[in-house]
Amino acid sequence: MSIRRLPEHLVNRIAAGEVVERPANALKELVENAIDAGATRISIVLSQGGIGRIEVADDGSGMAPDEIALALERHATSKLPGDEIGEVSTLGFRGEALPSIASVARLTIESRVRGADGWSRTLDNGRLDGEGPAALPPGTRVTVEDLFGRVPARRKFLRSERSEYAACLDVVKRLAMARPDIGFTLEHDGRRGLSVQPGDSRPARVAALTDRELAENSLGIDYVRGPAHLGGVAGLPTFNRGVADHQYLFVNGRPVRDRLLIGAVRAAYQDLLARDRHPVLALFIEVPPDEVDVNVHPAKTEVRFRDPGGIRGLIVGGLRHALDEAGHRSAQRPSASALGNWQSQPVRSPSFPLPTPGQSAVWDRHEPYAPQARAEAAVAEVPQAQSFPLGVARGQVAATYIVAEAEDGLVLVDQHAAHERLVLERMRRAMANGGVATQALLLPEVVELDEPACDRIEARIGELAEMGLELERFGPRAILVRATPAMLGAGDVKGLVTDLADELAAFDGALSLKEKLDLVAATMACHGSVRAGRILSVAEMNALLREMEVTPHSGQCNHGRPTWVKLAHGDIEKLFGRK
Ligand SMILES: Nc1ncnc2c1ncn2[C@@H]1O[C@H](COP(=O)(O)OP(=O)(O)OP(=O)(O)O)[C@@H](O)[C@H]1O
Ligand SMILES: [Mg+2]
Repeated sequence: MSIRRLPEHLVNRIAAGEVVERPANALKELVENAIDAGATRISIVLSQGGIGRIEVADDGSGMAPDEIALALERHATSKLPGDEIGEVSTLGFRGEALPSIASVARLTIESRVRGADGWSRTLDNGRLDGEGPAALPPGTRVTVEDLFGRVPARRKFLRSERSEYAACLDVVKRLAMARPDIGFTLEHDGRRGLSVQPGDSRPARVAALTDRELAENSLGIDYVRGPAHLGGVAGLPTFNRGVADHQYLFVNGRPVRDRLLIGAVRAAYQDLLARDRHPVLALFIEVPPDEVDVNVHPAKTEVRFRDPGGIRGLIVGGLRHALDEAGHRSAQRPSASALGNWQSQPVRSPSFPLPTPGQSAVWDRHEPYAPQARAEAAVAEVPQAQSFPLGVARGQVAATYIVAEAEDGLVLVDQHAAHERLVLERMRRAMANGGVATQALLLPEVVELDEPACDRIEARIGELAEMGLELERFGPRAILVRATPAMLGAGDVKGLVTDLADELAAFDGALSLKEKLDLVAATMACHGSVRAGRILSVAEMNALLREMEVTPHSGQCNHGRPTWVKLAHGDIEKLFGRK
């Protein structure tokens, strides 16, 4: 065996393995360098998903010719003036990005310090391939061509140009979100992919890079816990997505993908969203530099906190606080496409009974229900619409939707979804205050189930009693129900116990029912008095609306769907072509 020191180009290539897996990683390093150089505008040009070419130009400090040469050497950095790694305030500090990239591609740096001449230097897969004067405005332009062209083992692992481009765009979005003071443009194969001006406000930048509708459907976060601050915007639970890609997390201005942070976000939204739905948000955590170690991962996308529990508390606390404040708000405007459907609705067939004045129409012609709108006299003491955000009930459609008139528009409420939410919140309150009130059944009801189902219920009898459901084992294959939660009203007891048994079968035995309160409450609400398909009196409808207004999170059901939508007067006017 003979031990030898590896030649520099091999060392760099090994380092490149850690830092540069795909074009997006190289691009991230180049843009971070431009940010660290104090740029105010950064323009990016890509071709073939960044595999063919990545070009990043900035108007930052620039480098003198000897600095360019040094920048391409391993472990050469201007970013650790002292010897303290704990004090870095720049995105880079390892001094390896440029030599690593240069070892697996053809890399050219052109740079000019203001007031001096420009210079250019090219390395081709680690070897010098020319240098000389260059003409360019003050700043730096770095070009990376033919990434992994000579490293077939790596090239093989690249995905399609389209998905490499998607990863590049994501990287730039995240950095652009972190720095609204800097302008960014990105072009891919001749097409504009992104363009934001320097000096945006943070919310404006976040909205420009995620979804313009986020601005109307989000909450501003501003929360302090110990030495840490949480800022940014968090989407309302009803403004959710099927993938978690729309979550942007930053620690001290550095975009990170951190399991701890992602888990905390999930916990904060837990009972507001179905398991497969994800909120849209951009959260900025600021902590003193000695509270966080950024030198954990070569690509610097993970961090380590000195007090992980504190950071989790910061995120969960900050989000819950904002979401609780939001009360009954939901993503309340119907989407543009839903409005479009209304507009394109064909004229109804003549056989369809037209609503007479005072009746409400059936909105959805696919409903199997016969029209059953009632013109119940809007009772004299019905309060003024303007005093209530959700308005005053005017009628019910398909025995499922409450139609209410608010000061600023028409409100439609999904009575079942809303009730489900109210039951969950009532239960939560009652349990926090010592227990759920029960209502004894006049005659205990026997529910027959198979033996394992009875066993599962029996094992949870104590927990269910806390939730207001008093049960007893009744022989091998039956459960006796003595009392139900009073808040549910008279409901379908047999259906409730049967469904609970099914839920319990799907439960993880280690979890307490309290931890799964949302599921239990949803099951209970399903069998409570305000099911879909039940006709409600005007008084009952108004009671439901009033309760929604004062109940936290009543804007979305336990699965994150909205419980109500509002057609503003302006929307209605549009539907009738008055606007
Ligand atoms: N666009 C740029 N403008 C001005 N100077 C730059 C630019 N890009 C790189 N440099 C200089 O080159 C040095 C080396 O860059 P490189 O990215 O290899 O390492 P780093 O940024 O210091 O650390 P890291 O490896 O963590 O990115 C930097 O420290 C900086 O001084
Ligand atoms: Mg760098």
